[in-house]
Amino acid sequence: MALELKSLVKRFGAVKAVDDVSLTVGDGAFFSLLGPSGCGKTTLLRTIAGILQPDSGTIALDGRDITAVPVHARNAALVFQSYALFPHLTVFENVAFGLRMRREKEAAIRTRVGEALDLVRLAGFGERYPGQISGGQQQRVALARALVVRPALLLLDEPLSNLDARLREEMRTEIRRIQRAVGITTILVTHDIQEAFALSDRIAVMNHGRTEQIGAPADIYLRPATRFVAEFAGQVNHFAVTVERVEAAQATVATAGGHRFRIALGEARPAPGSELHVMLRPERVRVGAADCDNRFAAEIEDVTYLGGLTVYRLRLGRDRLLAQAQNLGAAALAVGDAVDIGWQAEDGVCLAGA
Ligand SMILES: Nc1ncnc2c1ncn2[C@@H]1O[C@H](COP(=O)(O)OP(=O)(O)O)[C@@H](O)[C@H]1O
Ligand SMILES: [Mg+2]
Repeated sequence: MALELKSLVKRFGAVKAVDDVSLTVGDGAFFSLLGPSGCGKTTLLRTIAGILQPDSGTIALDGRDITAVPVHARNAALVFQSYALFPHLTVFENVAFGLRMRREKEAAIRTRVGEALDLVRLAGFGERYPGQISGGQQQRVALARALVVRPALLLLDEPLSNLDARLREEMRTEIRRIQRAVGITTILVTHDIQEAFALSDRIAVMNHGRTEQIGAPADIYLRPATRFVAEFAGQVNHFAVTVERVEAAQATVATAGGHRFRIALGEARPAPGSELHVMLRPERVRVGAADCDNRFAAEIEDVTYLGGLTVYRLRLGRDRLLAQAQNLGAAALAVGDAVDIGWQAEDGVCLAGA
């Protein structure tokens, strides 16, 4: 079902944990609330679940206002970071729990628990206890338990944070597969940008209780609305620049360090003399480049080898720049080497709200 939040506010004393949040999640979509610790993600998710009552604003599910509907009648299933399985109940009984609470018939319980365990690939694990299965399997039991009651909304609060890096990636793929198979509208809370990118149709980036930007993963990465979003979404070079000339759809800008480069302009036509904030992702900087709109002589200040990639810190006179290059077998560059670098006019992105 589609979810619509309008101007939601939730305060804890003087703290506005959720500050005027409006967003919509389409039916069957996977939506993430992404942001640093303390930005209000969990509070927003709990407000959607009905565990917390907002101070103002409305929540609608498929057009019906559910703001005042109590938690048990809201039909939203919440999965936490700590799976909160009952240790003294078998996997089967853990998954059956919600159905028993609803006094479903035994035969229906057998069928639906069986289907839920199949869905999370745990058929055959029903008689085990939570202590006898791995962390990833426990997480899948928690998912099966949430989904078995056929909720309208699946709410996931950092569900993968307790897993090690490899298992986390595996479970990421599993969650996406399960969500698509069931077609359930899902909201994930995470502080992990890769997780949000890998899973989401759309993402809301939150900061201090507010949504700074809502968009598809590529919007967030390539066209961040603010400096905060740009930095949260990955490594980035920032330039505070002054516009020198505007010609057609390009402008020539200058850094305080005296470097001039060209940027592509969208709709905006900034006036000469005005100041802009331009960001440039490190992978757009071509190290050893010959044919770019913007070319500079640089010196390598630092080299970080990352296997498939190398990150270079470059010095251009008084300006500094991060570059990231794929390791394609060319000779490695070392600290102190002089290199030609460059990037295309379209690679520099103006941040309107910075
Ligand atoms: N029950 C509570 N009582 C008082 N303050 C709270 C409570 N829960 C959360 N907060 C505060 O609200 C803000 C948002 O917290 P939270 O929603 O948990 O953030 P996140 O999940 O993004 O880490 C923080 O400043 C936190 O300290
Ligand atoms: Mg949280």
